[in-house]
Amino acid sequence: MHHLIWIIVRFHGILCIFTICHRYPIAFRQPFSQIRVRTTARAKGFVFWINIAVANWAGHFGFGLAFGLIMAKIAPTAGRGQPRSPRLRSMNKRETTMDAASVRNFDLNAIDRAFIDDPFPTLRALRENDPVHRNPDGSVYLTRHKDVLKVYQNRSMLSDKKVEFGKKFGQCPLFEHHTTSLIFNDPPYHTIVRKLLAGAFTPRKLAELETLIEGIVDRLLDQLADQSEVDIIPAFAMALPTEIISYMLGVPPAHRHRLRGFSLAILGALDPVVSAERMEIGNAAVTEFSVLLTDLIAHRRANPDDGGQGEVLDSLIFGEVDGRKLTEAELIQNCIFLLNAGHETTTSLVGNSVGILLDNPAQHEKLKADPDMITTAVEEFLRYQSPLQIGNRLADEDIDLGDVVLPKGTYIHTSIAGANRDPAVFENPEAVDLSRPKNKHLAFATGIHVCLGATLARIEGRIAIGRLVRRFPNLTANGKAEIMGLARFRGYNSLPVRL
Ligand code: HEM
Repeated sequence: MHHLIWIIVRFHGILCIFTICHRYPIAFRQPFSQIRVRTTARAKGFVFWINIAVANWAGHFGFGLAFGLIMAKIAPTAGRGQPRSPRLRSMNKRETTMDAASVRNFDLNAIDRAFIDDPFPTLRALRENDPVHRNPDGSVYLTRHKDVLKVYQNRSMLSDKKVEFGKKFGQCPLFEHHTTSLIFNDPPYHTIVRKLLAGAFTPRKLAELETLIEGIVDRLLDQLADQSEVDIIPAFAMALPTEIISYMLGVPPAHRHRLRGFSLAILGALDPVVSAERMEIGNAAVTEFSVLLTDLIAHRRANPDDGGQGEVLDSLIFGEVDGRKLTEAELIQNCIFLLNAGHETTTSLVGNSVGILLDNPAQHEKLKADPDMITTAVEEFLRYQSPLQIGNRLADEDIDLGDVVLPKGTYIHTSIAGANRDPAVFENPEAVDLSRPKNKHLAFATGIHVCLGATLARIEGRIAIGRLVRRFPNLTANGKAEIMGLARFRGYNSLPVRL
């Protein structure tokens, strides 16, 4: 009898070893780094069986059973049904599986399509594990709100990009354009151009533009009313800001359809990774855009009183600050910049807002029930899917971020998108809340380069989205949307809807 029990116990031990051999590949098919974070239920089974097997071979079945149960119990578990590998759930929702080690290997200068499609899980992992992240080229990528804010508010952080763009572009139209526009310059040149442009955004000019915006929005919505299915980007999101900025700079209707192509080509060259083909398209766009503007400026010089409602071109041509006027090259490049700044980001504000409403039906319903919520809603749209996601500065002095000091000479990438989802500032930051109070997002940056067109963009967003939602309460998605495919700028190329 004693021998029989001895044989049963040993036989059970052999069975346990077989079970382990069967279970091992299932339990540990994932990389070890992920097992540390989340042990699956299968891995728990593995822990249980290995302990029984070892104890059985030692002849203590009861002890082995108890020990196996205890070990299996204390092994950490990720939770029922959690996937074991990174997986795209949908275009806008990806699992956060980056551990501390992979976060440190992240390189903003070598990002892939998965990051462009949905940067938010990576930004979150960076913020949690490596908020002052060093890229292999020595530049730093900041994802915490407090750091991004500090950089923008510090007067020693420079925007001039002549060295950076010299390396990236060489001597070419793209280099001339980007290094002459006010956004990539510092005082005193920045101050002069900003004062000249500020004339375009006085309360009187904005009031004039508001009336214009209401008229354009209503006309565009009337045109939509004839259709049941439409791509909201070209038909609405793009059309409004293009018309507004064209009025401001006197671009005749015949040329307006060319503006978005120019903008995407010129702004696309600012992405961290740019192909030779994209560079060529960008250079061609600057050249063609310059020819168009040279003609417009020459016409306005010859006919100074010809300007229409809301036009500001004359104040850029004839305006002076401290006796200094813009040269012809400065005038052309800053007009190109204003045209790009004025319509590309606003197109994305309107398009992204529609996308957010379609993805969040409960919030859509809330806005329909309370149209006055549109003011806080626009701030939430700007926070949640910021049209401009990355900024840059060069540290002209050491900057103390609290836990780390960045030395003078550091090239800094500010993640506006990361800052805008920082839980230290925003409650439940990954959720959309159209009535979110005190929304301190950084979509327009802050400091001396704070967006000059922020008030105009907010007016456009408020009127466009507010009226669209009221006019078409049954707005729903209608097929696959396509995003622009840029890391710095976030928006849709196409967003089909049913009205
Ligand atoms: C939702 C729409 C918009 C967003 C998200 C946006 C965002 C920004 C951001 C983040 C900056 C600062 C960039 C930096 O310094 O690194 C900026 C600058 C600027 N924006 Fe906007 N913008 C928008 C619409 C507009 C519009 C409609 C205009 C004009 C019609 C405009 C004109 C400018 C100008 C002139 C600057 C340069 C300011 C300076 O360097 O001093 N923006 N914008």
